[in-house]
Amino acid sequence: MHQIRRLVNSKGTRAEASTRFELYHCDCVEGMRSLDDETVDIVVTSPPYNLGVKYSSYKDDQKREAYLAWCLQWAEEIKRVLKATGSFFLNIGASPSNPLLPFEITDAFTQDQLFVLQNSIHWIKAISMEMEDGAVISKGHFKPINSERFLNDCHEHVFHFTKDGDIRLNRLAIGVPYADKTNISRWGHTGGRDKRCAGNTWFIPYETIRDRATQRPHPATFPSELAERCILLHGVREDTVMVDPFLGIGNAGVAARNCGVPRFIGFDIDEKYLTVAAERTGARIENVNLGAP
Ligand SMILES: C[S@@+](CC[C@H](N)C(=O)[O-])C[C@H]1O[C@@H](n2cnc3c(N)ncnc32)[C@H](O)[C@@H]1O
Repeated sequence: MHQIRRLVNSKGTRAEASTRFELYHCDCVEGMRSLDDETVDIVVTSPPYNLGVKYSSYKDDQKREAYLAWCLQWAEEIKRVLKATGSFFLNIGASPSNPLLPFEITDAFTQDQLFVLQNSIHWIKAISMEMEDGAVISKGHFKPINSERFLNDCHEHVFHFTKDGDIRLNRLAIGVPYADKTNISRWGHTGGRDKRCAGNTWFIPYETIRDRATQRPHPATFPSELAERCILLHGVREDTVMVDPFLGIGNAGVAARNCGVPRFIGFDIDEKYLTVAAERTGARIENVNLGAP
C-alpha cells in the first residue's frame, strides 16, 4: 500500500512520509530468502530472548545451543540482504536467570567477521535520580523483581552491527541541546549549533497504557521511539529500505512511517500480532499474506 502523509515523529521533526509496507505472515528466515542480496539499508529488530516469554504461538524456551544456532541462521540472512553501507540494530534484553545472553549473541554475531559491533547502546526503561535539592525523581516503567539477590531490571541493549564498523551516522539527528551553552562557542565542531551527540544511553519509557489487551496486545515490545532513533541515526534517503524480521505488533513499522522511510518489510509468524501491525501501520490487510506461514 502506498501512503502519503504529513507526520511528526517523536523528535518533533516533520516528515513527509510515503511508506510502502510489505508485511508477511511467515518465518523470517524463509521471508528474507525472497529478498535479493545487499538490498536493505536498515534492520531494526528484537527477536524472542529465549527467556520463557508467553507469546501466543512462539515457544520461547529452546535449549541454549539450539537458540544460538537459530540466532545465527537469521543473522546470516540479515547479513546477506544488508547493503555494505547498512545498519543492523538489535534490541535484546537479559534476565537474572540468563544474564549473559546479550553478550553470547554479540559474541556469536562478531565471530568469523559476520558483523562488526559498531555501537553498543543502553536502552534505559526506568531511572531514579537525586536532584541537587535532594529530591529523588523516578521516571519510566519496569517489572519489579521480587528478590533479595537481584536488582530490578531497568535496561536492555541495542547493539548496532555493521559490515565493516565504519558507517557514518547522523548523530545530531537525535542530538540534544548543550546543558552548558558556553560549550557552543568553546568547541569548534559545533558550528554554532546548540546540539550535541546524545550518547549511548537512551532513556525511552514505555507509553503509559490503561488496557494492555487493547493498547499493547503483545508481551515483549519496544517503544516505536527506540526504532525511530535508530532510523534517524542511520539516516533516510529516497530509496531507503528497512526490514524488521520479528515485527510483532509493528513498532518498527510505525517508526518507519514516522521517519518517512519509503519502503518497509516486516515478518512475523504470528497472525494475531501481524494483524495488529497492519492496522497500526495503515498497511492494507491485502498486503499481508495471512494464508501462508
Ligand atoms: C520480541 S517480539 C518483537 C516485538 C516487536 N519489536 C514489537 O515492538 O512489537 C518477537 C516476535 O518474533 C516473532 N517470531 C518468533 N519466531 C519468529 C520467526 N521464526 N519468524 C518471524 N517472527 C518470529 C514472535 O511472534 C514475536 O512477535
